[in-house]
Amino acid sequence: MDYLEFFHLQEDPFGLTPDSSYFYPSRMHNDVLVSLDYSVEQKEGFSLVIGEPGTGKTTILKIFIDRWKDRAEIALVMTPRLLPEELLQAVLDDLKIDHATTNKNEMFKTFRNFLIDRALSGKRVIIIVDEAQNLSDGSLEELRLLSNLETEKEKLLQIILVGQTELLKRLKSESMRQLDQRITIRATVRPLTLEETSEYVSFRLIKGGKGSAIFDEKVKKAIFRLSGGIPRLINLIASRAMMVAYIGTAHQIRKGHVLDAQKHLSNAQPRAIQWRKWVGYAITGLLICSLIPVLYVVYGKSRSPGVVPPWLNKAETASVFPAKPVETANPSIIPAPAANPDAPAGIQKTVVVAVPAARLRVIPSLQAGIRRMAPQGERLEVIGEWTEQDGGKWYRVKSSDGKANWVASRIVRDDSFR
Ligand SMILES: Nc1ncnc2c1ncn2[C@@H]1O[C@H](COP(=O)(O)OP(=O)(O)OP(=O)(O)O)[C@@H](O)[C@H]1O
Ligand SMILES: [Mg+2]
Repeated sequence: MDYLEFFHLQEDPFGLTPDSSYFYPSRMHNDVLVSLDYSVEQKEGFSLVIGEPGTGKTTILKIFIDRWKDRAEIALVMTPRLLPEELLQAVLDDLKIDHATTNKNEMFKTFRNFLIDRALSGKRVIIIVDEAQNLSDGSLEELRLLSNLETEKEKLLQIILVGQTELLKRLKSESMRQLDQRITIRATVRPLTLEETSEYVSFRLIKGGKGSAIFDEKVKKAIFRLSGGIPRLINLIASRAMMVAYIGTAHQIRKGHVLDAQKHLSNAQPRAIQWRKWVGYAITGLLICSLIPVLYVVYGKSRSPGVVPPWLNKAETASVFPAKPVETANPSIIPAPAANPDAPAGIQKTVVVAVPAARLRVIPSLQAGIRRMAPQGERLEVIGEWTEQDGGKWYRVKSSDGKANWVASRIVRDDSFR
């Protein structure tokens, strides 16, 4: 009996190839997609998507291309280590534009005519460069020149650069200023949170055929700690942990399986994990250092009231213990749109359960586990949305207990203005 049969799975739930049917719409992944949609709809010219390795940039691109393939002509450059003239040729070839010559000026003219023709027929033209951190300065400059192709009113071409964080540093250099200034949409793909990591693991298991592998919350927490919430590392660890469990003929994945998996993988994937470990040590060190003066005050106060060391004023005490943890926002320059486009700015969308009992699910799937049943009339605050490939729409909702769950849109009704 092989691994998949043992767990009653149809396919490996933790494969490493970006696959749109396995796309888990985390809030952050969704926000990046919304930013890209906006940039193309508004003909914004240049957009930039940045993220650490394995966070899901190429996966997002696949979803984006699926969404736009009928409304746009898309050239996807996956191997950007090209000379500037090779880049233009690769774009023409990908768009299936006939060009008799590889003379750069001729290719440029052919491309301009193509753009004008498509603009007249109302189609967008998009160039996407994945792994854009590998583009040479010459090729980046070539893209900047192409982005100048515009009519008096609008850009004829949208360019999306997707790359790892070092691309940001390059764009900040003096020679790249002109290009940097043209980038109007910037989005960052961040690792998943603990809650999302847990949902992500369940989501992928369901997509792989549900099966009999059991990952409880403790195990998911261990996966989150070791992967830092980076989807590729989650997949590697989860898949290896299942393999270890299979060897021990266990259906329940245990923390020990995860730790064994990590031990096996640590030679192959040390950088991301160890990097996070060192950041963790540094933060702990800093916290301890900043706690020393505070302990001094507390301890000192209890012994001699009113004695505060002169280097610690009120404001500093507050910054050592912030009142509330600060949530870092995705620095996309456009905010995620208000869930209800008709709602006045600043008003959150809410929905009301329209059936006798609505199933609030862990992830947006009809096969997903049910967290609780919401009675008819319960109001739910919408904090995200997701539309499946077959058109089924889901809302990520927060209920009065503060928990986030998913509900199918067809069993609730919009209640934003009531
Ligand atoms: N939102 C998501 N839903 C489902 N799977 C995801 C998601 N994000 C990432 N993954 C999975 O994580 C793995 C890495 O994703 P991807 O290749 O898109 O990362 P990347 O950011 O492009 O990495 P790199 O910088 O190395 O190119 C893939 O197996 C992909 O399927
Ligand atoms: Mg990639």
